[in-house]
Amino acid sequence: MNSKEELKKAAGIHASTYVKNGMKVGLGTGSTVKYTILELGRRIREEKLEISCVPTSIATEKLSIEQGIKLYELSSLEGLDLVIDGADEFNKELTLIKGGGGALVREKIIAQASEKMIVVADDSKKVDTLGKFPLPVEVIQFSWKETRRQISKITGISESKIIKRITNDKTFITDNGNYILDLHLEKIEEPEKLESNLNSLAGVLDCGLFCNIANKVVLASLNGLEIIEN
Ligand code: 5RP
Repeated sequence: MNSKEELKKAAGIHASTYVKNGMKVGLGTGSTVKYTILELGRRIREEKLEISCVPTSIATEKLSIEQGIKLYELSSLEGLDLVIDGADEFNKELTLIKGGGGALVREKIIAQASEKMIVVADDSKKVDTLGKFPLPVEVIQFSWKETRRQISKITGISESKIIKRITNDKTFITDNGNYILDLHLEKIEEPEKLESNLNSLAGVLDCGLFCNIANKVVLASLNGLEIIEN
């Protein structure tokens, strides 16, 4: 395992210590929270941990089932105690960019349904100013070009910097059947304003800015683990 993978593992495993018996837990998506899910699976098997979980993506659903984690529909649980999820970037206010894995809409729904959000990250995710990581925006297929035009107008960036996500030579389709536009903004000075402006467009489902949602980041670096609280 290379050192970055070790850091992801350390953060992911530590975050699982916040999960207690009887909790309702949202399970995020990505290569860091994967280690939280594996650790929860171990605790279920070896320590008889009892928890009710909701996955934020089809990929996480599959992994959780393999780990023997009991899954529920979000609508059947009336709120969650905690969600643990990764991030692509976070700043000192714990504002996040998410959606590198394309699961941002379900991730935000589940984060908003949770009393607390714990983010797991290695130190490459910590930034002074958000925006180097392209901001994912989930858009309806029907109007994606028009939505791109509108996004260009409200952000001031050219359409060439608003890129329809392609993976393995195919347009990426989200678990909700939509496209992702990745916005190469470089700098986001006012994340709340940008989130609100983007989300006011009819063709936009949501964007990957998570403002005033995360409570804690479990950050792993070569110096060890740091818990950053809001
Ligand atoms: C998926 C996400 C992920 O949480 C984010 O991309 C971080 O993933 P990783 O831990 O693999 O770096 O937002 O939509």
